[in-house]
Amino acid sequence: MEENSGLTQEKTQRLITLAMEARKKAYTPYSHYQVGAALLTQDGQTITGCNIENAAYGPSNCAERTAFFKAVSEGIRGFRAIAVVGSPEGEVLTQYAYPCGVCRQVMMEFCRPETFQVIVAKSLEEYKVMTLRELLPEGFGPENLQ
Ligand code: THU
Repeated sequence: MEENSGLTQEKTQRLITLAMEARKKAYTPYSHYQVGAALLTQDGQTITGCNIENAAYGPSNCAERTAFFKAVSEGIRGFRAIAVVGSPEGEVLTQYAYPCGVCRQVMMEFCRPETFQVIVAKSLEEYKVMTLRELLPEGFGPENLQ
């Protein structure tokens, strides 16, 4: 069954599972807030990421940007969706982790805001799907510079 502009429930849940797995690798000795992301490419690959913190705080990287930068650095630039799971340390997801403003802007660089799907999840059954346009209305992107 199709839902959310082409992503089936099965594909959505697979992406959430991969994000949950990636979250286990989060390096968060300072905030103890762990985030995992799984990015689905146009050709069906999945690239994962976790947040990686730093003693100097500023160099810390969000899970979503880790996934995007891994993909782009491997030559991939076409993306369909990203699943994000985040909560304070611990196995149970207690909240939806919406991408921060900086990560939304990075998505804006590489994704079509009307079709790119952002999935935030608390479990395989509890998740929300929205487009990048909904998360970043009136966003500034590459097209503005053409
Ligand atoms: N974080 C993410 O990885 N993604 C988000 O969208 C929000 C915040 C990380 C950054 C930092 O390591 C920790 O969560 C607390 O802000």
